[in-house]
Amino acid sequence: MAAPTRTPRTTWIDEGLRALGVGGPDAVRIETLAQALGVSKGGFYWHFDGRRALLEEMLDAWERVVIDEAINRVEREGGDARAKLQRLFALASSREARALGSIDLAVRDWARRDKWQRPAEVLDALGLKPGSFVADVGAGDGYFAFHLAARVGSQGRVYAEDILEDELAKIRSRKAKQGLGQIETILGTPSDPRLPAETLDAILVVNAYHEMPEFDAMLQGMYGALKPGGLLAIIDAQDEPGQPRSVYRERHTLPAEIVREDAARHGLRFPRELPGFSNPESKRKYYFLLFEKPKRS
Ligand SMILES: C[S@@+](CC[C@H](N)C(=O)[O-])C[C@H]1O[C@@H](n2cnc3c(N)ncnc32)[C@H](O)[C@@H]1O
Repeated sequence: MAAPTRTPRTTWIDEGLRALGVGGPDAVRIETLAQALGVSKGGFYWHFDGRRALLEEMLDAWERVVIDEAINRVEREGGDARAKLQRLFALASSREARALGSIDLAVRDWARRDKWQRPAEVLDALGLKPGSFVADVGAGDGYFAFHLAARVGSQGRVYAEDILEDELAKIRSRKAKQGLGQIETILGTPSDPRLPAETLDAILVVNAYHEMPEFDAMLQGMYGALKPGGLLAIIDAQDEPGQPRSVYRERHTLPAEIVREDAARHGLRFPRELPGFSNPESKRKYYFLLFEKPKRS
């Protein structure tokens, strides 16, 4: 009997890159790739330990493609070393190369961040499940908003809020490509997240709370948006206490003690601090504080 033919490793990588190009990193799901290739998931695990291993190989493959293409173009027309160097510089500064380079950097950022930010653990701590309603306040380009959307599914809702319209536009463009109707962007103001009242199971504020000069007004807005018993997670960069807030804002840090005092002033309970995060590139350390809006008695 002939041995079953196994889908080659490179086919999984190519399909992963195709899915990445269409829908971004969250679209790279083993199940979805298997469906697209018309094969079972079993063959995937023959080649890779898991999704993370695939993402790493996709990054390596992408790097090889970009580098090989640059070398080919420079070599194709021949000439001496000086002429080749000139062509390389022209290529590196071309619009096309800049576009490729920025995709490459963006993809690397996202894949690398998953490693140390452990988004699934954050979502677990918030008790999020299909159908949950959640807000990502200070969402930036939506790193967490898309993880949240995958968790809450089409029955849930993710309010991706920020004060920068450019960031929200990036989220909307990716949301449209991936067909994620559960994400809604909200343009807030520095003192009002403009979230719907008493609707949310949880709110996540990552690396953004330190940037909010009108922190009391923001906390008030977030408190009002949580359901009784709803959770607020604040993840921010640790620092030593004792400085004025303006100093921390410049440093992009905020001592956890200050966040706890702020939250207590607004009547939020502090059930626990969870294991923090350490970004291996910036060497920054982040704490992870979880607060709860009291349940109605
Ligand atoms: C360093 S980024 C972090 C983005 C995202 N949370 C992440 O972890 O990738 C901080 C974000 O907070 C936003 N921000 C600052 N003040 C804000 C406020 N008062 N309300 C909402 N967003 C705010 C900024 O516009 C920026 O997009």
